[in-house]
Amino acid sequence: MSPVLEVEGLCKSYGGVRAVDGVSFSVPAGQVRALIGPNGAGKTTCFQLISGFLPPDGGRVRFRGADITGRSPQQIVRLGLARTFQHCAVFSSMTVRENVQMALLAADRGGFAPWGSFARRNRERARELLVLVGLADHDDQPAHNLPFADLKRLEVAIALAHKPALLLLDEPTAGMALGERFALMELLLDLRRRLGVALLFTEHDLEVVFRFAEWVMVMDRGRLVAEGPPAAVRTDPTVRDVYLGDAPTSLPARG
Ligand SMILES: Nc1ncnc2c1ncn2[C@@H]1O[C@H](COP(=O)(O)OP(=O)(O)OP(=O)(O)O)[C@@H](O)[C@H]1O
Ligand SMILES: [Mg+2]
Repeated sequence: MSPVLEVEGLCKSYGGVRAVDGVSFSVPAGQVRALIGPNGAGKTTCFQLISGFLPPDGGRVRFRGADITGRSPQQIVRLGLARTFQHCAVFSSMTVRENVQMALLAADRGGFAPWGSFARRNRERARELLVLVGLADHDDQPAHNLPFADLKRLEVAIALAHKPALLLLDEPTAGMALGERFALMELLLDLRRRLGVALLFTEHDLEVVFRFAEWVMVMDRGRLVAEGPPAAVRTDPTVRDVYLGDAPTSLPARG
């Protein structure tokens, strides 16, 4: 399978801190991949660099074969590389459907259609996306009424407005109960099956990682220190050292 994302020698420093220090990897189209590592390892910074929210000090990012290094977040998302954030990003006073409609408007910028048919189509597509993420029954509610787990689903629907080939999800299940975590991951895998979208997610809960990821990358102090299928990463002594410190027995068995 050809890669949807290729990252080569990516670097970013804050003062003396090398937040991302020469990271290279590539993600095949349609793959579900986790990026894990302890707090401060550089996972979020990596996502910021890939999605254009931060300029890298060095290195390249290629998406579907095109060099996107240094492009703006808006340009990148329109190419089909969308993301969700470590802290939910929705318009809380708008309704659930309006949030998705706004995203569709942004995604359709530059398109042309008579306003009536455009507005109708926009509403229909918002509805389709809300059905996909399981929020169709909440479309008229203000977003701030949604429970936390549903807010994350809304954020995913907003990201899908751009018809992404790759979705970056920064700690999508943070702050959720275990049942909700699994339900969100099941939803994401279902989206992958239906839409073919590749998923790259960060996650601190290793039970979620080893249950859902097809490939796992491990970061520590800005560097990628291991990657491979979950079974190999789980037993990698380097990973046990950097990620689990002195508690190696807490790695969960495969679900
Ligand atoms: N805006 C910033 N200014 C200065 N230092 C920063 C900034 N953002 C991140 N850092 C530093 O860069 C390093 C990597 O941080 P980053 O947020 O990417 O880690 P992370 O792996 O996402 O951590 P977490 O699991 O806690 O979310 C850390 O040492 C952090 O303190
Ligand atoms: Mg982070």
